[in-house]
Amino acid sequence: MSDNTLNTQQQSGAVQTTGHAWDSDLQEYNNPLPRWWLWCFYGTAIFSVLYWFFYPSWPVGNSWIKGFGTVSYTITDKATGKAQERESRWNTRALLLEDLGDAANDPQRKAMLAKVQTASYDQIIKDPKMMAFVRSVGKGLFGDNCAACHGSGGGGVAGLYPNLTDDDWLWGGGMDKIQETLVNGRKGFMPAFGAVLKPEQLDDVAEYVLTLSDEAKSSEASERGKAIFQGQVGGCYYCHGADAKGVQSQGAANLTDKIWAIANVPAQKTLQDKKAVLTAFITNGVNNTRIMPAWKDRLSPTDIKLLAVYVHQLGGAK
Ligand code: HEC
Ligand code: HEC
Repeated sequence: MSDNTLNTQQQSGAVQTTGHAWDSDLQEYNNPLPRWWLWCFYGTAIFSVLYWFFYPSWPVGNSWIKGFGTVSYTITDKATGKAQERESRWNTRALLLEDLGDAANDPQRKAMLAKVQTASYDQIIKDPKMMAFVRSVGKGLFGDNCAACHGSGGGGVAGLYPNLTDDDWLWGGGMDKIQETLVNGRKGFMPAFGAVLKPEQLDDVAEYVLTLSDEAKSSEASERGKAIFQGQVGGCYYCHGADAKGVQSQGAANLTDKIWAIANVPAQKTLQDKKAVLTAFITNGVNNTRIMPAWKDRLSPTDIKLLAVYVHQLGGAK
């Protein structure tokens, strides 16, 4: 390196270099860090140490440094219904409880809940204010507890979980019946006819079921099917009724409407496929595969009441 390779700035001595040269003429300026930058840097270091003391931070053995910060919240004792003040070290769970506590203690909300609790179903659906409340609270309850199976809008999943928006009910769509469904749960049961009926009998009875909702025209096969349905061989009438309109105390589906709760007939294009779906369904029946859980131990009676009204209005509220 010779002096004449240095640029004018270095020659004038305005900025010092580190004194090293790479590749014969590459040098590094030795600028001091700007003041403001340094102070920010010291600031963040001090902040991080303070943060360790105020909030949960480093792990220590099986535990961690809990910090000085605290959160206070109210929780309601499920057994006595009394609200209790609690304080805990800062954590996000307690923060959530603090937020929820505010909502639960909102005097307007409390007053509405008390009103719903004592009102009859009839009074609730005639009162627009109570209904608005039911819709907003019911939506949240439904989303938290029911949507996983019945879908967020209550549309269900064909074949698995009933559609609650179509005013067609296995167990009854009155608010008292829906309440019953929620309190104790439901379990659909239909015997498997694969072992009872011969393949051609299964075929005939499926043909008959299709005539009930005008999917197929009456034929010799459907007449044979009718005899099975209405007689001792099949005994279908026993649960579905002689008019095939279903018996709600049994949870037995109405077979005369075009609404299918389980056998996914509408998804099939040809009559042949529709019949195949029905034959398969009648062969296997339903046993322990369609279970609506009981909610009496998981939701309060008021929540169940709210949900019964909410589900009722989803289904057209007839
Ligand atoms: C684990 C899935 C699951 C969850 C969660 C669930 N259900 Fe159900 N529900 C079912 C099944 C399956 C049936 C059909 C039972 C049958 O076939 O008889 C059903 C049936 C029903 C019925 C009767 C429908 C009829 O046609 O009579 C109602 C009403 C209902 N559920 C409401 C609810 C509500 C409200 C919740 C939330 C509190 C809920 N369900 C949560 C699976 C579930
Ligand atoms: C012990 C009572 C019982 C008997 C007997 C019975 N069923 Fe059912 N059936 C039910 C129940 C209950 C359901 C609804 C199942 C559920 O909710 O999970 C059902 C559902 C059905 C469905 C589906 C309807 C839909 O909407 O998807 C068809 C089709 C059907 N049954 C046809 C028959 C035929 C045909 C026979 C006679 C061979 C028969 N059932 C005998 C109780 C019965």
